Amino acid sequence: MKNHKAKIDYLNNIIDEPLDIMRFLRESEDLRDDICPSVGKEIGNFLYFMAINTNSKRIVEVGTSIGYSTSWLGLAAKKINGHVTTIEISERLINEAKFNLKLLDLDDNITFIKGRGEKVINELPDEIDMIFIDGATKSYLELYEISLSKLKKGGLLIFEDILFSVSGKREIQKEMMNDFNIKIKNDNRIEKSFLNIGDGLLLCLKR
Ligand SMILES: C[S@@+](CC[C@H](N)C(=O)[O-])C[C@H]1O[C@@H](n2cnc3c(N)ncnc32)[C@H](O)[C@@H]1O
Repeated sequence: MKNHKAKIDYLNNIIDEPLDIMRFLRESEDLRDDICPSVGKEIGNFLYFMAINTNSKRIVEVGTSIGYSTSWLGLAAKKINGHVTTIEISERLINEAKFNLKLLDLDDNITFIKGRGEKVINELPDEIDMIFIDGATKSYLELYEISLSKLKKGGLLIFEDILFSVSGKREIQKEMMNDFNIKIKNDNRIEKSFLNIGDGLLLCLKR
């Protein structure tokens, strides 16, 4: 465990956040108990890399919170002339994210939608390039099916927190996430990769 923390600390020193506000967003989370954890720097950077690498111009995110992961995706979108639609169920948080990201000059690259990811994705146009899901673990199965139907062929679907199957606080959460992982493992509609970074990242490529 100590070794794990040393690795994270090391990566946090190596990876640069392109803008100071991003560090502020990430660090402010530690001081608050009214928001759930943002992704770490290495996942933010990974999302940015994947979006650019796959030239994903139409990106959707479920679980905005105060906008840390959104800032990485928004910067990637700006670089490749793409767009992020980010969805958050909490009105208070979506407003806070909007306010925070104003400072990043990404107005043309990010649309904020208050609502349930399951419902909002269904109403978006088809042929999405990349979807990132972070939060709402109890809705993962539903979000998976909806996202798959909305992704273009070859599109990328990423889930955070899939190792809650091991590290979840409650037994029911562990079981639910394990069931989800087994379902993904056996689904031939996608190529998949399970990664031990952050709280566990799952990459799915739609065939
Ligand atoms: C882990 S936080 C997201 C952190 C953010 N992705 C980041 O790294 O900066 C999860 C967020 O998902 C939101 N959420 C939970 N269920 C949701 C749902 N069904 N649809 C949209 N947002 C949801 C929560 O309100 C919470 O703010």
